[in-house]
Amino acid sequence: MKTSKELRQLFLDFFSKRGHRIVSSSSLIPSDPSVLFTTAGMQQFKLYYLGEKSPYGKNVCSCQKCFRTSDIDEVGDGRHLTFLEMLGNFSFGGYFKKEAIEWAFEFLFKELKIPIERAYVTVFEGDKEVPPDQESIKIWKRLGISENKIKKSGRKDNFWGPTGKEGPCGPTTEIYIDGVEVWNLVFNEYYQDENGKLSLLPQKGVDTGMGLERLTMVVQNKSSVYETDLFESIIKEIGGSGAITREKGIIADHIKGAVFLIAEDIVPSNLERGYVLRRILRRAIRYGKLLNLPKFFLVPLAQRVIEIYQSVYPELKSKETEILTVIQAEEEKFEKVLSQGLKQFEKISQKGFLSGLEAFHLFDTYGFPLEMTQELAKEKNIKVDLKGFQEAFERHRQISRAGAEKKFGGIGKEATYQATKLHTATHLLHSALRKILGEHVRQMGSDITPARLRFDFSHPKKLTKEEIEKVEALVNEKIKEDLEVKREEMDYQEAIKSGALAFFKEKYPQRVTVYSIGDFSKEICAGPHVKKTSELGTFKIVKEESCGAGVRRIKAILE
Ligand code: SER
Repeated sequence: MKTSKELRQLFLDFFSKRGHRIVSSSSLIPSDPSVLFTTAGMQQFKLYYLGEKSPYGKNVCSCQKCFRTSDIDEVGDGRHLTFLEMLGNFSFGGYFKKEAIEWAFEFLFKELKIPIERAYVTVFEGDKEVPPDQESIKIWKRLGISENKIKKSGRKDNFWGPTGKEGPCGPTTEIYIDGVEVWNLVFNEYYQDENGKLSLLPQKGVDTGMGLERLTMVVQNKSSVYETDLFESIIKEIGGSGAITREKGIIADHIKGAVFLIAEDIVPSNLERGYVLRRILRRAIRYGKLLNLPKFFLVPLAQRVIEIYQSVYPELKSKETEILTVIQAEEEKFEKVLSQGLKQFEKISQKGFLSGLEAFHLFDTYGFPLEMTQELAKEKNIKVDLKGFQEAFERHRQISRAGAEKKFGGIGKEATYQATKLHTATHLLHSALRKILGEHVRQMGSDITPARLRFDFSHPKKLTKEEIEKVEALVNEKIKEDLEVKREEMDYQEAIKSGALAFFKEKYPQRVTVYSIGDFSKEICAGPHVKKTSELGTFKIVKEESCGAGVRRIKAILE
């Protein structure tokens, strides 16, 4: 029986022998700022479909790490996953339908010898805008797939893309085995703009994606992905009776997703990617409770994940300590409030519904992600007032903001200038932290009063005394160099391309202001800042502390 590892390699070798350059998986954090995670193999090649020259040649293949939140409610069914590996072959103006379909056919039914009787295919039936895909039908028939095994479907099932707000897309033909979609072949003929309008691409492209987990399940003749070697030891570690229940499946999936996200230096937080990570970790913890698993059960599960993947993704092993630390810290944090939160939920759900304020209270006081509250409510068949939650959330934000403004506002010129200096110092600190501790450091929050700056950032460990001294010294060195602070306006995309740091992306307009300090720091930021760094005086870190799992907080002043 072939292992998942063999299958991964067989796929890449197969396409490499057929003129494809093997390209490594890109990060789970895409460079396209309009998407949160990498969800498909084609993402790192998006521009090549649009005509930019590919440095790898026209035909490539890869095994891409993907993370999808879109299927999260189906996770546990044995087919859908948040983290998955996608095998894919791609062409940017090279080959098209004939080769793509023939190779897919050859790989599955000749190379892997999957009995063809187990398969059927689907093709695009056509609609007002896009004609039916007769060519694919012809090719399948010529390969011996009978008419009744070629099903036709519309936009919803047989059209793919774009990822993000705009991009390449096109009709698909999909291969199902034992009723499970295994391989999706996309024929990128179109470009969809931000308004949903389609136009023909200057060149045709192929983008295929086959989930390694599903392929392994089919080849290993298993009835769920959890029985394959990509999950077996995790499920076993969860323990209990032999049956693989939905709950076990969710825990196994989520811990795997969490390990891979943390390996990308994401830490749990209430924002964007950090929030997704928090959400899956906390959901896994809650299901662990339902199954009566012991406290801190996630750490040994994470170790199994690392064992399964370390030979393919060595970064998991080298980051093991960080990964386990972050997971344990989040478990500790949530453990403390979970039981009380659940009790509170029981109490307030008696009346048959949850108000927005109650859901917000569960979030704010007990750390229940909204989705968790919704799931709990669904189990009891009761409704949560979503709009009310959002209003409560917004009100809370405004109150905190008003508080900050009160501290900050109407305080005269001198105080404003102090705050401006601290703002510039914050940029220097951010850059210094990334240079000294590593590029995983990301801004998680910042707060400035005329008296001090406060900066929260992702980092798994307490800073050593030496590290603090080094950071301080580097900032002071840059102050002494009397660097010029430059303000420029540019398109968001251009800013990102030029390496400017941006962390709260969804709030950015298309045109943004970028502040650079010499060539030491470059950030998208609304300002204001000082003109020259020598205005700052002496920078001093007065406190370094933890502020949540995997997040550190620095307070600093200027003297
Ligand atoms: N982009 C398509 C998918 O994700 C095929 O690779 O399914």
